[in-house]
Amino acid sequence: MQQSYNLKSYNTFGIDASATYLEPFSSIDTLEKLLKKYEGKALLVIGGGSNILLTAPFDGLVLHNCMKGIELIEEDETSYLVRAGAGENWHEFVLHCIENNWAGLENLSLIPGSVGASPMQNIGAYGVEIKDVFHTLEAYHISSGEIHHFNHAQCQFAYRESVFKRALKGQYIILNVTFKLSKIAQLKTTYGAIKEALQDNGITQPTIKDVSNAVIAIRQSKLPDPKVLGNAGSFFKNPVIDRSQFEQLQKEFAQMPHYDVSDTEVKLAAGWLIENAGLKGFRKGNCGVHQKQALVLVNYGGSTGQEILELSNNIIENIQAKYGISLEREVNIIPSNESIIQLA
Ligand code: EPU
Repeated sequence: MQQSYNLKSYNTFGIDASATYLEPFSSIDTLEKLLKKYEGKALLVIGGGSNILLTAPFDGLVLHNCMKGIELIEEDETSYLVRAGAGENWHEFVLHCIENNWAGLENLSLIPGSVGASPMQNIGAYGVEIKDVFHTLEAYHISSGEIHHFNHAQCQFAYRESVFKRALKGQYIILNVTFKLSKIAQLKTTYGAIKEALQDNGITQPTIKDVSNAVIAIRQSKLPDPKVLGNAGSFFKNPVIDRSQFEQLQKEFAQMPHYDVSDTEVKLAAGWLIENAGLKGFRKGNCGVHQKQALVLVNYGGSTGQEILELSNNIIENIQAKYGISLEREVNIIPSNESIIQLA
């Protein structure tokens, strides 16, 4: 019988799913050997496994990106260029930058996952997105075996989006990411809760460490720790709708939080929509909607990916029926035809 590998500790949802093959790589040399060895197999590349939902056994090779290293590669009077291996843990990297007084990542503290996944979906929190600090990245082009460089424009960043989730999906393996960090901190504390957290601690002249601590405290108060309760952060994206539809909805739901995107578009808070539909804390079997943040789905233990997928379908249907809005998943469902890279 074919041996299989358990992926439970490789995904933050803690889903007990198997893969036919599982291999780590921490050098380009190893990566190339593995791609050759498993030629013809379906391929899934994972980092921290913090944005995936495994809904079935994976019949193929799971490659665990373990490319490490953090390096200050250049500096001028105002900025630092810092390169980090894709397999570095995101939060540890952020803390390393804060210790060195390299400013810009403090609002992105405590986000689960790896450095390599951060540009994929342009991670963001508390008013900052990767695109604000991104400089370049290097990625392995699977079909040609070449290493390609991507600058900011080439990544085509948008809200929780990049070219690697769209036109170039499945074609590249990110090897390292270079960030442009600042010598002069430009703190972004306007996000309500950060200001309050700093005030509560009597901090009037915050450092990047203070902001990081405030963000950590806010996240810990709302978001479940994946080590304690399986989850993948926000399960859905915040929907962007036409202003005309928003104005109609606002007549019925005057309290609805909203953010202007452009003259014609408005972003809504999916967490509020779900809570207001009465689903916050809703539990079905071993999974449910988190009690403190309705945008997060949780595995209470022993849930299958299929159960969580069904729960998310129920939520999508409810939100569609109540508001006429289609929620889009932020988490990658696996396997799906799009998320599997089939090697030539
Ligand atoms: N809200 C509710 N009920 C809820 C959750 C939220 O009413 O159950 C309301 C809040 O009161 C607030 C608004 O919705 O008025 C926005 O909530 P919050 O500030 O908690 O942020 P979010 O929009 O739910 C987004 C990101 C998070 C990020 C936070 C903070 C997305 C999909 N999610 O969540 O990112 O940490 O903002 O910046 O954009 C992630 O992507 O995994 C993630 C955690």
